[in-house]
Amino acid sequence: MKITIIGSGYVGLVTGACFAEVGHEVICLDNDTRKIKALRNGQIPIYEPGLEQLVQRNVSAHRLSFTGSIEEGVDNSEVIFIAVPTPAQVDGSVDLTYIERVAREMASVLKEYRVIVDKSTVPVKTGEKVADTIRRYGQAEVEFDVVSNPEFLREGCAFADLMKPDRIVIGSNSERALTIMKRVYEPFMAPIMVTDINSAELIKHAANSFLALKISYINALSAICEASGADVEKVAEGIGADKRIGRSFLNAGLGYGGSCFPKDVAAFISISEQIGEPFPLLREVQRINQYQRERFINRLRDTLWILKEKRIAVWGLTFKPDTDDVRSSVAVDLVNDLIREGAHVTAYDPKGNERVQELNLCPGVHLAGSALDAVRDAETLVLATEWPDFAAIDLAEVYRRMHTPIVFDGRNLFDPNTMRDLGFQYYSIGRLPTKGNSNGQLRRLANIDLGISPKYTWRPRHNGVTQGSR
Ligand code: UDX
Repeated sequence: MKITIIGSGYVGLVTGACFAEVGHEVICLDNDTRKIKALRNGQIPIYEPGLEQLVQRNVSAHRLSFTGSIEEGVDNSEVIFIAVPTPAQVDGSVDLTYIERVAREMASVLKEYRVIVDKSTVPVKTGEKVADTIRRYGQAEVEFDVVSNPEFLREGCAFADLMKPDRIVIGSNSERALTIMKRVYEPFMAPIMVTDINSAELIKHAANSFLALKISYINALSAICEASGADVEKVAEGIGADKRIGRSFLNAGLGYGGSCFPKDVAAFISISEQIGEPFPLLREVQRINQYQRERFINRLRDTLWILKEKRIAVWGLTFKPDTDDVRSSVAVDLVNDLIREGAHVTAYDPKGNERVQELNLCPGVHLAGSALDAVRDAETLVLATEWPDFAAIDLAEVYRRMHTPIVFDGRNLFDPNTMRDLGFQYYSIGRLPTKGNSNGQLRRLANIDLGISPKYTWRPRHNGVTQGSR
């Protein structure tokens, strides 16, 4: 089938490449001419595991092409996906400017029947407004249908999520559009749920808000565990083993970030208020998420006493592993909190250093070239993003390089017993702190040889997939 995707960001580009992979002929469209030029030259503007090869393969097979012309995209495809950004405004509501502009532009070039699919995350009733706009700006005799088809892919494992989705939600009230949409998704062999447009739009905000709620729930529990001497990981295992609850998205940590959860929870709060049915539970989800980072810094302060002038190494800047995305990253916020308190922060991220530098997100931070460089002479190491690279590091070497072997693990990546045996003073989330044996003795030992394999602390986490692949 011939498909055009308007918007070549994370969602648009990955979706387009996956549609091409299953045999469709796909045009990815963007009004950023530099981006289109780069894509035509084989340069991928984002880091997503496997994406570069996927794009190359499908471009070579002539199933994937790029354009800046909306007319070309609309003329040559029977299905047009809208995957443009829907950023948050200051009050949390969604800025729909890009969607509205695309609807107007499409209307001006629409000559025959097309299915127009909204893939961007939008407030309920946006589909109706897109249809109104196309009717208002288009030619009266041209037929079209607007469909809602929310996307549930996660950055870092977008390819797997798209190729093997749990479900495909299609919101439509037109049989003609539904038949075409089913052909689009046939090759994926996944369960298809058909709903009305409003329900499909609501499903996306409700799903992301529920996942954020799960994270805040376990984070609130982590505080109770710390205060009562319980272990949040055991508690998560215990409650997650109940199939009705499930273990995934119950990993306690510094809280959720990224381009979706913070924005979508805020949007859902705003939408619910606009339609006269406020959703205060979600305000609490936001509050816990913010408080979790504050609690972490308070513990850091309790241990180090004064943060000013302390040399703190931070591992991780991206909002989660396996991405270069630093948007609304808790790690970035944490670095800035520490810098504001006067700490000397040296940070390292396997993929995020460049972005942080480019966008000047952490003024005053020193960016190290490697994780081991970052900890040289550090008084404390803070782990903010659970990259598998950090789990595989030679911890004995880390110990040797640090000035004082204190580790604050904001993602529960390391095993407390191992850290204790290595001599670290180790703090994590919702688990009791552990203190190593006599510091001096172990530091001397570390200088000789601890003889410990660097890879032994890695454990899979439980997001439904192994850690690192979200
Ligand atoms: C999310 C949704 O999962 C996806 O379905 C939707 O399409 C887009 O938004 P994404 O933002 O890519 O995907 O990342 P996700 O893996 O969901 O993680 C979001 C944040 O939650 C990250 O900051 C992550 O560190 C945090 N998180 C996740 C936790 O703190 N604990 C968990 O148990 C899981």
